[in-house]
Amino acid sequence: MIGRLNHVAIAVKDLKAASAVYRDTLGAEVSEPVPQPEHGVTVVFVTLPNTKIELLEPLGADSPIANFLERNPAGGIHHVCYEVNDIIAARDRLKAAGARVLGDGEPKIGAHGKPVLFLHPKDFLGTLVELEQA
Ligand code: CO
Repeated sequence: MIGRLNHVAIAVKDLKAASAVYRDTLGAEVSEPVPQPEHGVTVVFVTLPNTKIELLEPLGADSPIANFLERNPAGGIHHVCYEVNDIIAARDRLKAAGARVLGDGEPKIGAHGKPVLFLHPKDFLGTLVELEQA
């Protein structure tokens, strides 16, 4: 059911410093920061030949990544995002299998302008999983 790895998201406290690591130390192509107030994060996109890395910095008081950064002050992998051809069919299949979909279970528009859903990490080997409509 799941398809390509769309991105790996890494939560960071300092987006400027994190961008420098990927741009200068690792030699990757790094975008300008993109504030996404509706998601409570500012995002930098790192483009790799086969996938993307997203660097996430908290934006606003109740950012969904604030607790994660309290537990992981040096930053860390926050979620992985897999593409699915039909996000509603994928959601229904996962729910039928007993997996928990976060929030109200309805897809929201994600960082790339496409519908996304998040799945409970306890159902997926301790990893927060994002599904994105391909
Ligand atoms: Co994501």
